[in-house]
Amino acid sequence: MSTVLFVKANDRPAEESVSVKMYEAFLKHYKETHAEDTVVEVHLHEQELPLLGWDMIQANYKSATGKELSGKEKQIRSIVEKHLEQFTSADKIVMAFPLWNLTVPSVLHAYLDLMHLPGKTFRYTEAGPVGLLSDKRAVLLNARGGVYGEDSPFEMAVHFVKRHLNFFGITNISTVVIEGHHQFPDQGASIIEEGMRKVVMEAKRF
Ligand SMILES: Cc1cc2nc3c(=O)[nH]c(=O)nc-3n(C[C@H](O)[C@H](O)[C@H](O)COP(=O)(O)O)c2cc1C
Repeated sequence: MSTVLFVKANDRPAEESVSVKMYEAFLKHYKETHAEDTVVEVHLHEQELPLLGWDMIQANYKSATGKELSGKEKQIRSIVEKHLEQFTSADKIVMAFPLWNLTVPSVLHAYLDLMHLPGKTFRYTEAGPVGLLSDKRAVLLNARGGVYGEDSPFEMAVHFVKRHLNFFGITNISTVVIEGHHQFPDQGASIIEEGMRKVVMEAKRF
């Protein structure tokens, strides 16, 4: 029995959004085929996600060194700990996000910032930082209107999330990308249909 964390970084309605359709289809088929697993959902636009800055840096530093936190720092730290606990206790992680302005929605960036805590998700060594979460698996579900392919330097969403997860030691990552449905509107429906088939297959396999 596994615990699976589902992270949704898009608050558009499913009928308007390809990545939300991917999220919902994955969730439905995953639950159908993994009835014994525990599913935890986090919808990032519904969360209070503090932005990384002085208060959070101080909150984390003071927590790590046993110093007294201010009221605001305690509040930030409790949010950090809640998300960190969910993230580190999951066996598998599913993240669904669109490509917006060449990168991830800012809520996903803010969320990943919460996870960068030495001793929790990585540790420093003489050879450089080493990830601590190498036992986890992840799947990334991404939709992007244009065609970028695997290696475009302008695609800073899938690459961005993968590098963060790699930094935490997570290397067992599969991706399903639906792309080009805006660039080629006449083929849009078939691009999405074909992509959704891959989402369902991946949900059953994951
Ligand atoms: C605010 C915004 C920014 C976007 N930026 C890009 C972009 O940089 N590159 C691109 O190919 N498509 C871009 N798109 C199109 C989305 O990638 C496309 O709608 C895709 O399906 C993901 O969004 P969705 O999951 O909500 O459908 C953008 C769409 C919106 C609404």
